[in-house]
Amino acid sequence: MTTVRDSFHTRIGFILAAAGSAIGLGNIWGFPTQAANNGGGAFLFIYLIVTLLLALPALYSEMYIGNQTQKNPVGALQEACASKSAGLGKFAGLFGLMGAILMLSFYSIVAGWMLSHALAPIAEFFDFSSASQWLETSSLGRNIVFTPIFIVLTALIIFRGIHKGIERWSSRLMPALFVMLIGLIIYILQQPGASEGLEMYLVPDFSQITNPKLIISAMGQAFFSLSIGVGGMMVYGSYLKKGDNLGKLVVSITALDTLIAFLAGLLIIPALFVAQHNGLKVFDNGVLIGEGQLIFNILPNLFDAMGDVGIIVGLVFFSLMSMAALTSTLSSTEVPVSYLVEEKNMSRNSATLGVSVVVLIASMTLVAFFDPLFGMIITWVNTFQLPIMGLFYFIVVGWLWSRGNRLQQEAKRGDSLWITVWANYIRFVCPILLSIVFINVAFR
Ligand code: PFF
Repeated sequence: MTTVRDSFHTRIGFILAAAGSAIGLGNIWGFPTQAANNGGGAFLFIYLIVTLLLALPALYSEMYIGNQTQKNPVGALQEACASKSAGLGKFAGLFGLMGAILMLSFYSIVAGWMLSHALAPIAEFFDFSSASQWLETSSLGRNIVFTPIFIVLTALIIFRGIHKGIERWSSRLMPALFVMLIGLIIYILQQPGASEGLEMYLVPDFSQITNPKLIISAMGQAFFSLSIGVGGMMVYGSYLKKGDNLGKLVVSITALDTLIAFLAGLLIIPALFVAQHNGLKVFDNGVLIGEGQLIFNILPNLFDAMGDVGIIVGLVFFSLMSMAALTSTLSSTEVPVSYLVEEKNMSRNSATLGVSVVVLIASMTLVAFFDPLFGMIITWVNTFQLPIMGLFYFIVVGWLWSRGNRLQQEAKRGDSLWITVWANYIRFVCPILLSIVFINVAFR
């Protein structure tokens, strides 16, 4: 049976969708928090190096496997590993798929918090202050309402397919996100106290650079930020015409993701110092008073202190966060959906419905047993799942895959020096570098 696969229709649509997957809570929350806690500009510097040396090649490898095989992540890894062990490929594909579900289970909860915080200023504006208070306060009830809303929003876009759903919505949301982010930066940088934050962020404290913890945090952050390791980027790569000059696309996606993380730092770190200027407690002994506090306590308090303008700033900020989260959940939802459609012959609608129900059950389990499950799942995904799968992609592209692996074939023929260097970099250097960092992370 051959049916025509849905696909991205334009290169820019593909870039916006993949950048949409990459740009998410990790950029706007994770990156600035880590930078604020790890020497500001020094973290930025290390982050850039790790991104170039490891995360970009991992993103390339993941997308390349999808692009060359034109299959869902399970089928793609199975095909790529066929000459050695299709069983190993299938196992790895399913392992990635499980990672996608786990990642969706916690990400949808946090995204739900963003949505409820985006509605709070509206309630405030209409003088529903008890509703606004409810929306801003963490509670079981709020999780039970907003997590499903977010899962449904994701499903509504996935139902429509790659071109009409993912490509179209990413092309709308990403430019809007960019404009909102720039607007917020311009506003915050004019507030008293902002320049101190700017200085902390842009003037690196190089005494931190030898700290191995910094390198490890930066790698985890870079992998999460580029959505490497659950198959989301692989499945996007598979919806792009085969061999469509992937290298350039991967560079553009990485550049956009890094640019937004950098810009988020320009917003959040100065905002922290503005909050401090307004008498709010932000740092304790030079360390942020709590990661969760940053987004859900310090910033809302800062917006409140700004009066009427704060209502607009809060609305724009949390809408931006919700949009960033939405374009990120699309790619990981597409992983199991594409698997069910292509390997289990399900219709797209039933597959989307089935996956959404599974994600809902998983996230409601996390909500019910929040402590300790929530933290455990995040640690599992970030510390183990993503680096292990990243390493596996390098090994597939470098070693396990023979037939259909154009990169290694061209390198063997010695067609161009650039390709030879790149192929051997992925084959030898990346697995070793990644293993060294991984061993340090896992057995710290
Ligand atoms: N890259 C997203 C972020 O930075 O928030 C997180 C993510 C999305 C990870 C999609 C993995 C994924 F498949």
